[in-house]
Amino acid sequence: MNPVIIGDATLYLGQCEDILPNLSGIDLILSDPPYGLGKKMIGGTKRFQTGEGGLKTLGDWDTKPVDNLIELLNPIAPIKMLWGGNYYPVPASRGWLVWVKTNGVATMSSVELCWTNIDMNSKHFNHPCNGWLRDHPTQKPLDLMHWCLSFVPDVKCVCDPFMGSGTTGVAAIHQGKKFIGIEKEKKYFDAACKRIDEANSQGKLFSEIPISKPQLQEVLL
Ligand SMILES: C[S@@+](CC[C@H](N)C(=O)[O-])C[C@H]1O[C@@H](n2cnc3c(N)ncnc32)[C@H](O)[C@@H]1O
Repeated sequence: MNPVIIGDATLYLGQCEDILPNLSGIDLILSDPPYGLGKKMIGGTKRFQTGEGGLKTLGDWDTKPVDNLIELLNPIAPIKMLWGGNYYPVPASRGWLVWVKTNGVATMSSVELCWTNIDMNSKHFNHPCNGWLRDHPTQKPLDLMHWCLSFVPDVKCVCDPFMGSGTTGVAAIHQGKKFIGIEKEKKYFDAACKRIDEANSQGKLFSEIPISKPQLQEVLL
């Protein structure tokens, strides 16, 4: 199927295993693949369990981690940042990113971990979870994805092969980068197209990276 092109974003509806081998020119994979939690995710608020947009709309995409994820992504881009990296057999790294959920509930994880293959100090970011105005049950906060991109200021083309509602793409477009997104579920793909179209209309929002500018030293693994 032909991609949807919105400004500097190219968005594919489909399985990333089929689409990724045909792509080139990607500097960074910044993604949030399925964690494989499925029925284990039984905590949270009552609304998270039963409300519109909550877990009951999760579908079956989170029943297991993606097979051979690192082997799939290694040929695609030199730099990788993977939320939920602790659910995958990733290589050792000192450059983990930690999101501390400042409004977390006792029955859910109070932090999430992002594996990177960047040789840098591990860092944490304090930020609340999204409220209920969201397009995906596990939508990441936009500021979190801006924070991730702040560690790789020279990257020109970002890919998210498990795009969901397109949060990575919105941050990439705000920062004037090219973006390639892939999502297999039509309803999330449509939400991503809408959000990225809005981001594209807003134009580049950051003439400078807003949070911190650690030096990217070398790609380790
Ligand atoms: C954790 S969610 C991503 C949420 C996203 N970070 C956001 O902010 O909206 C993972 C997404 O990957 C999609 N997905 C799972 N397996 C896939 C595959 N093989 N190819 C493409 N998309 C896939 C799921 O449909 C789901 O929307």
